Amino acid sequence: MSEQAGPPEDYKAPQLGGPGASDYERYLRTDELLSLQKTADEWAHRDELLFTTVHQTSELWLKFAAGEMDEAARLMEAGEISAAVRLMRRAVLALDYVTSSLEMLEKMSPWEYQEIRVVLGHGSGFDSPGFRAVADTTRRAGRAFNRLVAGAGLDLVELYQRGREFEQLYQAAEALTDWDERIWIWRFRHYATVTRSIGEDTKGTQGTPVQVLGKLIAQRQLPELWKARATLVERFDAQERPSA
Ligand code: HEM
Repeated sequence: MSEQAGPPEDYKAPQLGGPGASDYERYLRTDELLSLQKTADEWAHRDELLFTTVHQTSELWLKFAAGEMDEAARLMEAGEISAAVRLMRRAVLALDYVTSSLEMLEKMSPWEYQEIRVVLGHGSGFDSPGFRAVADTTRRAGRAFNRLVAGAGLDLVELYQRGREFEQLYQAAEALTDWDERIWIWRFRHYATVTRSIGEDTKGTQGTPVQVLGKLIAQRQLPELWKARATLVERFDAQERPSA
């Protein structure tokens, strides 16, 4: 005997709780999300929506990137190197999104941007929660990685010289280098965007001359990864090689 068929399922009817007409809007909390930007009657200039969208999405991607890196650091602390590398790759991709979205800001006229600049108060990227989280998690990941290398009885330069014997660790070193490189690339790209918007001699909303951002480009979060390259060149050149 076949079971009595109930009424056909109403796929439009929401199943989740909370505000919003549909489950899509309820799950993603789109009402709240889309009310986080000023409305047209609050804008000092209509490009505030562009400016806010780039900054708010950057904060979301930075939060995600830092979260993935933090979990990668925890996995490295637990000795789970391959799982850590997988998450580091996602974190790197998230930083690429943050960097590529800077291009949108360059579509603002540098004259019209002035109307936005003056409504930012002392708001400055130095107070970006996402960028601070990135800096914190990079230090944690760097420490976890260095402990793994030391635990294998190696230093970083030896790891690169003997990479094939320590494949997982080599992959972790390269993923961390990708990450540090993306922070460096973001800084450079941001500096170019800022210079294009307000010039190099101007002070930012928190009083920092734009040239200071230029000097920060030279900083590396994990300098040992970069110094290792130079040492590899020295070691290679110091080797006794049969003359041709
Ligand atoms: C037209 C667009 C932008 C301008 C004119 C601008 C300007 C500036 C300036 C002048 C500074 C130096 C600090 C100050 O005095 O304010 C700064 C720092 C910073 N900005 Fe921006 N910015 C822009 C877009 C962005 C975006 C989209 C982000 C994304 C999160 C961002 C994140 C940061 C961060 C993290 C710093 C600290 C830099 C570091 O530690 O290297 N900025 N920005």
